[in-house]
Amino acid sequence: MQIDGRAYRTIWVDPDDGWSVRIIDQTRLPWALEIVRLTDAAQAAHAIRAMLVRGAPLIGATAAYGLCLGLRADPSDAALEATATLLAATRPTAVNLRWALDRMAARLRPVAPAARVAAAYREAARIADEDVAQNQAIGRHGLDLIARAARAAPGRAVNVLTHCNAGWLATVDWGTATAPIYVAQATGIPLHVWVDETRPRNQGASLTAYELGKAGIAHTVIADNAGGHLMQHGQVDLAIVGADRVTRAGDVANKIGTYLKALAAKDTGVPFFVAVPSSTIDWTIADGVADIPIENRAASEVAEITGRAADGTVRTVRVIPEGSTAANPAFDVTPARLVSGLITERGCCAATEAGLRALFPERL
Ligand code: MRU
Repeated sequence: MQIDGRAYRTIWVDPDDGWSVRIIDQTRLPWALEIVRLTDAAQAAHAIRAMLVRGAPLIGATAAYGLCLGLRADPSDAALEATATLLAATRPTAVNLRWALDRMAARLRPVAPAARVAAAYREAARIADEDVAQNQAIGRHGLDLIARAARAAPGRAVNVLTHCNAGWLATVDWGTATAPIYVAQATGIPLHVWVDETRPRNQGASLTAYELGKAGIAHTVIADNAGGHLMQHGQVDLAIVGADRVTRAGDVANKIGTYLKALAAKDTGVPFFVAVPSSTIDWTIADGVADIPIENRAASEVAEITGRAADGTVRTVRVIPEGSTAANPAFDVTPARLVSGLITERGCCAATEAGLRALFPERL
């Protein structure tokens, strides 16, 4: 996507040296656009763990390139397994991490060590390119849902609510939840997006708002707790969120707070869609509440907040009293019964095993 007239992906191989990996440091947005150079697997692991990169598809792509960097240092069988283990341990919830590493390892194990590095870069590039194509397809399929809402609301903008950042910054390009929004904008459908701020790390306020602003899409940042009220008052036509892991039965793990939005949407009759590339579907499990590991992150993310002060400096301040403790479950699970439909690269389907089976017969 474009930032100030220049096209970016979120991850790319440095064209000058042909091997180091460049990423956008998302912890610095929206205050600064800083590009970071990754030169070894440990740096890639740190980038995922410290959330310089985040979002399920981008985590997967970064892990794939992290494996490439690890193999440059040592292409042996032992190093392949050890680097995959190192990267797999960085974050637990987004299944794209395991998916990408499994795919890389399966491709590379039969390759002789001398040929492994080149094969690894080729496979990582395929993963990145496929992510872009899948998200574009999600955009085309999701367009139908927004167009339907536009027909039901002639003469005004369609109001879409989204949570967290499932935009192009969470993927290699285009985004999952935002892809239909970008396609709808391109087709001339008037749109307005309600952007949940998404405490504690504020990916909505800092990243989704940044993206939509750069794309010229009308949007309003709201406190996380405002969504239900807006739905009750007819101010949300549909919600589209992303996912970090979807079970084969259609349960959806996504950024904390998604479940509450889905409950409010169900109560108010607002359609609630989840945009999900197949790399985010965990075909091995059915019950999301029981079987999806939920990451617990540092209490400091809840106890503190970061922003830009009037003098232009970016500062972190404490927002809870000294002595109070804070808990920080980073994801929740929205049961499939609350999901109006899944938007995949192969089309839209019910959030059920039968719905997914119809689109991905080879997987079930
Ligand atoms: O904690 P994050 O920023 O890695 O959270 C992941 C997400 O960005 C969201 O849960 C998102 O909606 C799914 S990724 C397309």
